Order: sequence, then structure tokens, then C-alpha cells
Amino acid sequence: MSQSTCSLCRFWHSSIGKKLVVALTGLFLVLFLAGHLVGNLLIFQGSADFNEYAHFLHHMMHGWGIWVFRILMLVSLVLHILATVQLVALNRAARTTRYQKEATMVASRSSRIMIWSGLTILVFFIFHILHYTVRVSPDLRELAEFGQSWAMTVKGFQNFFVSIFYIIAMGLLCSHLSHGVGSIFQTLGLRTRKTAGPINLLSKAYALIIFVGFISIPVSICFFGYGKEELQQTEQAVKDAKALGLEGILKDAH
Ligand code: HEM
Repeated sequence: MSQSTCSLCRFWHSSIGKKLVVALTGLFLVLFLAGHLVGNLLIFQGSADFNEYAHFLHHMMHGWGIWVFRILMLVSLVLHILATVQLVALNRAARTTRYQKEATMVASRSSRIMIWSGLTILVFFIFHILHYTVRVSPDLRELAEFGQSWAMTVKGFQNFFVSIFYIIAMGLLCSHLSHGVGSIFQTLGLRTRKTAGPINLLSKAYALIIFVGFISIPVSICFFGYGKEELQQTEQAVKDAKALGLEGILKDAH
């Protein structure tokens, strides 16, 4: 094994190395969430802008962009979870020693909450990928195949149970972020006695913005009927195009 590989192994096996991996992958995921929220809020601009945005995501860099992003996302997610689970195991082992102090107990309690909210977010994440990326529902798949990402998203949230599940998951995400964003600053050595207050406030504000921003979508679709009529028109247009054998024309338009 080369010198550099060994350094990387040593880094990974050290507690500070794992903490840095959690912080940097966490930062990537936090930034992704902000971008994803801004993109998703285009849903309120109407179908044309949202469909154009989805089309751009799928075709940037000749279609390679989305795959570069997916690989980065997957690697970040795996490293984030793996390093966190290993850190919790290390903490647990350390807790059996007699030098336990109140602070250590508080820290391990909050990290235990973090691991459970994190694992629940993972379940949500898998559901979300099956819902909107793999599109296991044939109705959603058909709309997406016709370039109707706006209609696909609206239809997905017309399901009461799906919307409730998203809202609960966003609540857990909010709790995870309100602690996690502050921890990133802590690990990077940016949280001092002077900055601790503003950093805590920033974490909570960010988590709240993410929560309110994301839930505004299922709430307005499922409970306030947002997009109902336009979705019906789009579904009718897709049905008509199929009946007339014009699928190609409708698909090519996107
Ligand atoms: C109400 C909240 C959300 C809505 C409306 C939403 C909407 C969407 C939609 C429509 C897509 C499919 C894009 C496409 O392929 O055209 C998507 C993909 C994705 N979403 Fe979300 N999302 C939400 C929350 C989240 C959250 C909280 C996370 C992260 C924890 C997340 C992570 C992702 C990822 C990783 C993809 C896959 C992108 C890809 O590779 O295709 N989303 N989302």
C-alpha cells in the first residue's frame, strides 16, 4: 500500500478524520438542500418554468451533469452515514470508562438523537428516490416521460398519505439540521465562545427555512388544491396525444 493510501487510512481511522468527513459531506448535503429547495419552489412559478428547469437538470453537460451529481451525492451520503455510525460506536465504547462527565453524556445523548433522525431521513430519502427519480408509480412515470415534471410532482403530492409522510420527514430533517449545521462549524473550529450564539441562531434559522420551504409544496397541493385544474388539463392532453398517436410530438416538445 502506498504512503498516501496509508495516510488516507490513518485519517479515516482517526476520530478527528471521521468528524471531518461527517462535517464536509454534511456541508455538501446542506448546500444541496438549499439548491434543491430553490429549484423546487419554481413549482409555484407554473408548469413551463418548472418543466424547463427539470429539463435543464437532465440535459446539462450533455446529460452527464446529473450523473456527476448523483455519484457525488451517493459518495457523500455513504461516507456521512458510515462515519457517523462509527463515531457513535466509538462514543459508546468510550462511555463505558469511569471518566464520564456530564458534558460527555449530553453530547452522546444529542448524537443519539442525531443518529435516529438521520436514519429516518435515510428511509425518507430512499422513498423519495423511488417516488420521483425511479418513479415506481406508472402514472407519475408516464407524466415524466412526456416531460411533464410539474404535473408529475403535483400528482405525487395529491396523495394524502404521501404528503403527510413528506411533512413528518421534513420535521425530522429540520431537527437534524438545527443541530447538524452548528456541528459543522464546531468541527471546522469556527465555533468559539463569541460565535457560538450567532452560529446556533443560524443553524435554527436555516433548519426552519428548509422546513417551511419544503413543506409549502405538499401543503399547498394536498390541502389547498394548488395545481388541480392545470394537472387535469395536462393529463387530458397526454391522454389525447396517446389516442392520436402523437406521443413523439409531445415528448419532443420537451
Ligand atoms: C417537499 C420536498 C421535496 C420535493 C417537492 C422534491 C422534489 C423532487 C423532484 C421532483 C425530484 C425529481 C427531479 C427529476 O428527476 O426531474 C427530486 C429528486 C431528488 N431529490 Fe427531492 N424533493 C423534496 C425534498 C428532498 C429532500 C429533503 C432531499 C434530501 C434529503 C431531496 C433529495 C433529492 C435527490 C437526491 C433527488 C435525486 C436527483 C436525481 O438524481 O434525479 N429531496 N426531488
